[in-house]
Amino acid sequence: MQTFWLQNWRLMLSKRSRKTVVAAILLPVLVYIGVQWYMLDHLLLPSPPSRSSASGLQPLYAPGVDEKHVDIQTDNGKLTCPERRNLVFLKGMKCATSTLLGMFNRFAIKRNLSVALPMGNRIYHNWPYPMTLRDVRPTHRGVYNMILHHAVYTPAVMRALMPADTVYISIMRQPFSHLRSVFRYFNVAEIAGVSGFEQDHLAEYFSDVERYERVYKSPNAQKRWCIPDGFSVTRNLMSHCHGMPLGFPVGARDISRDAAAIDAYIRQLGRSFELVMIVEHFYESLILLRRFMCWEFKDIVFVTSNVAPTQKGIPKTKTYPRHIEEFHKRWSYADYRLYDYFNSTLWSHISRHGTGFHQEVKAFKAVQKRVEKYCLDVYSRDNQSEKLPAHTEASSKWSRRFYINAEDCRALGPQPIKMLIKMKQESEILDKALLQEDAKSADVRKYKGLC
Ligand SMILES: *[C@@H]1O[C@H](CO)[C@@H](O)[C@H](O)[C@H]1NC(C)=O
Ligand SMILES: *[C@@H]1O[C@H](CO)[C@@H](O)[C@H](O)[C@H]1NC(C)=O
Ligand SMILES: *[C@@H]1O[C@H](CO)[C@@H](O)[C@H](O)[C@H]1NC(C)=O
Repeated sequence: MQTFWLQNWRLMLSKRSRKTVVAAILLPVLVYIGVQWYMLDHLLLPSPPSRSSASGLQPLYAPGVDEKHVDIQTDNGKLTCPERRNLVFLKGMKCATSTLLGMFNRFAIKRNLSVALPMGNRIYHNWPYPMTLRDVRPTHRGVYNMILHHAVYTPAVMRALMPADTVYISIMRQPFSHLRSVFRYFNVAEIAGVSGFEQDHLAEYFSDVERYERVYKSPNAQKRWCIPDGFSVTRNLMSHCHGMPLGFPVGARDISRDAAAIDAYIRQLGRSFELVMIVEHFYESLILLRRFMCWEFKDIVFVTSNVAPTQKGIPKTKTYPRHIEEFHKRWSYADYRLYDYFNSTLWSHISRHGTGFHQEVKAFKAVQKRVEKYCLDVYSRDNQSEKLPAHTEASSKWSRRFYINAEDCRALGPQPIKMLIKMKQESEILDKALLQEDAKSADVRKYKGLC
């Protein structure tokens, strides 16, 4: 850059043309603009949030940059679009949703948006029962911008709570891989009393699934966490989370054996959800999310969280006899239909984006790797992390230059559920009167979630 200017300058001086005069005037102007740009881009970082307030509460919401329009690079050039901020993220079980929760938390905090919070000590909005208006804390903010915590897709209630331009987003996972994760996470084998061949808990469970399910779902089952009696976690769990009527609670409509009704429901979902991400194609899903929401790279960086540990020596990659997966395909039929449908819509969306899309995925992977490494460093330093300088990512064809600091990392993870606790602490103080008012009317519902 410098040599370029020097060479030009010498050239202009030697020619002593009229251009020299013009350049002599232009150059300081250019330098001035350059310095201003440098100051804006490099030095004027958003200041850290002030640590004091009258209530003694640490403000959660960092006053961030208020960017309302973002340039999205497409194959046909730049597209400027308004950043979307109102969303319902259907947080299923064991579908990388905690990772995404951290990402959305940070987005909300940066922009001082209102996240719907479950009541009391709960972490679900009445999951696995349908969400009702009673399952969200009233807020002094007057609006909700995001629903992020576990909830069954309940369109009428969600529409009543959310602004009209709300975007519906979800994520799904290959059903057998999902089953394996759920099976470990909810400790199904132990609760159902599967004994003996430890290596083959899943195989044993499906060798006599009706019996094991009965034990698992029974009111006498011990140590079942957050799962009410009569609810199956091995059968069509994703479809249930997406509001498909599958006979829960007892007496509810059940379309699990009606292939035409299942397909009709899935098509209906496809019209209601703007984006259904796929765990197996996570990066492609994120780039679709970014383009669709008009967000930037810095809004989609993440920290991996809540990945189930390997249990009792069962490697995650263990392969199962083919007949078990075949059995599960019939057992959990709706989930396979659901997954196949949305995996195929994901790829048809992607095909409409052109080749630039895949370059962007590749570029983002590299960014993500560096950012996650930085955040892991922050977490490992615990309370010393403030001293760590911010991490910088250069601008690229797809994203402006950006910074990630220790505070960003703590908004992202490593356990996003902790942010829920912080947000609730804030709500306890700022929404006190509203919460007291709310508590006056008794909750006499028959079906209430456990967590
Ligand atoms: C965040 O928004 C609330 C209203 O929703 C407002 O009272 C508060 O001052 C805002 N905080 C910041 C830091 O902008
Ligand atoms: C999703 O669909 C694409 C395109 O049809 C296919 O290549 C891919 O294997 C599918 N992914 C999974 C995990 O089934
Ligand atoms: C950091 O944490 C350690 C232990 O967790 C504690 O002993 C130390 O006082 C803390 N330092 C600061 C500056 O808070």
